[in-house]
Order: sequence, then C-alpha cells, then structure tokens
Amino acid sequence: MKREIIITEDGSTTIHIPEWNEQYHSTHGAIQEAQHVYIKNGLHHFIDTNQPTPISILEIGFGTGLNAFMTLLEAERLQLSIQYKGVEAFPVLTEELKQLNYVAQLNALDKEAVFKKLHDVSWEKQERITSNFELLKEQKYFSEINETNAFNIIYFDAFGAGVQPELWTEAIFKSMYNALKENGVLVTYAAKGSVKRALRNVGFTLKRLQGPPGKRHMLRALKL
Ligand SMILES: C[S@@+](CC[C@H](N)C(=O)[O-])C[C@H]1O[C@@H](n2cnc3c(N)ncnc32)[C@H](O)[C@@H]1O
Repeated sequence: MKREIIITEDGSTTIHIPEWNEQYHSTHGAIQEAQHVYIKNGLHHFIDTNQPTPISILEIGFGTGLNAFMTLLEAERLQLSIQYKGVEAFPVLTEELKQLNYVAQLNALDKEAVFKKLHDVSWEKQERITSNFELLKEQKYFSEINETNAFNIIYFDAFGAGVQPELWTEAIFKSMYNALKENGVLVTYAAKGSVKRALRNVGFTLKRLQGPPGKRHMLRALKL
C-alpha cells in the first residue's frame, strides 16, 4: 500500500495511507497524541500506582518508533528501567524514517543517533539502546502474540477499527489480557462502544478518559 509523510497540526510528521485515508497518528498532532495517550495516561499512570522495576511494555504497532522514542526519553528523564517490545508486521522503510521530524520536534537533537538505533537494531533480538531502555522488535502479526503474564503496560496503537476491524476483536483483546501481568494497564486512543464492549467481555475494567487534542475520549483498560 502507498504511504506518504504528512505534517500534523502540532508540527510533527506522521505517515498517511491514501488508500485507507488513515494515519499512523492523529492528524491533530502526532507527538501530542503519543504524549497524552501513551506517556501520560499509560506510563505515568502506571508508575504513579506501582513501583516495579524494570517496567515491561508491549507496543501494538511499532511503526515509526515515536512511542518507543518518547518512552525512552521518559525513561532517561525519570531514571526508569524499561524493557520494551514492539510488534510490527510491516516495518517502516529507511527512506520514510529519514523524513520524520520527531528528534527535532521533541528538542532531542542530541538523541538523533538513539532514534536511528531504535530502527537499526536487528529484529527478533533483545538490544540495549540506552542504559535505561532495552528493545526487542518482533516482526509478526498481532494475532501471533501469545505471551502470558509478561507485561506491565500495553500501548494498543493499531490502525482504527474502521479500516482494520479484525484487530479490535475479543480474540485480540483476550491475548492482550493474557499478556498483561496483574495490575497491568492497556491504553488506546480509541473509545468506540464496540471496543469498550470487547475489552469488558474479556475481563478488563475500563476507564474512559479525556482524549488527546481533537478527540473527545480515549480508554484505559486495567487487568485487576
Ligand atoms: C497506527 S500505526 C502504529 C503507529 C506507531 N505506534 C507509531 O508510533 O508510529 C499501526 C501499525 O500497525 C502495523 N500493523 C497493521 N496491521 C498489523 C498486523 N495485523 N500485525 C502487525 N502489525 C500490523 C502497521 O504497519 C502500523 O505500523
């Protein structure tokens, strides 16, 4: 499928898929969305209520590496130890990565090499990116995820149910529930009724939260 780089409303780039009229991030602001949904309501919420170390995070859709990079920056800022797994079936190409402006937009020009390293490291191999952050990238389909009791946090960042309804089903959410440890947290930008029902039906306790700029709501799902 054709992919093109566009600029979102906060000045940060994202990838647009014309055939689906779908983006990797919110057009209202890629960085703003990542900060609000995954860092603030996922990572910060978890560390405010738990003190495990290291913190294990699963990302559904590694994509551009924006969520991973922002998590890495937070790990350094807050002196956290994070083990991060990113699952992705269709990796972003080097030519696309070169057009992304996250390092500059996040005022992290001294971390240019670190952002590159997130993408350059081998797939299927646990790699230390910084002293606070280890990464394992797995190139596979989300339906192949079968870990149990392995993660504290899931960043559920699949394309919308409008274009990939098969990724917002009870079957996928059951595997997410199983993959989380007790007190684990799944966060997602979506808040549709059908998504809420599917999450509840597999055992999650839900909290509907204010969404990022341009979006009314988002969801946090807890495995209690
Ligand atoms: C919304 S984008 C993720 C954005 C990403 N979190 C970021 O920060 O750039 C969804 C991602 O899921 C990937 N994807 C789509 N269907 C998939 C599937 N069935 N299994 C694994 N990855 C899939 C896409 O290639 C894309 O990278």
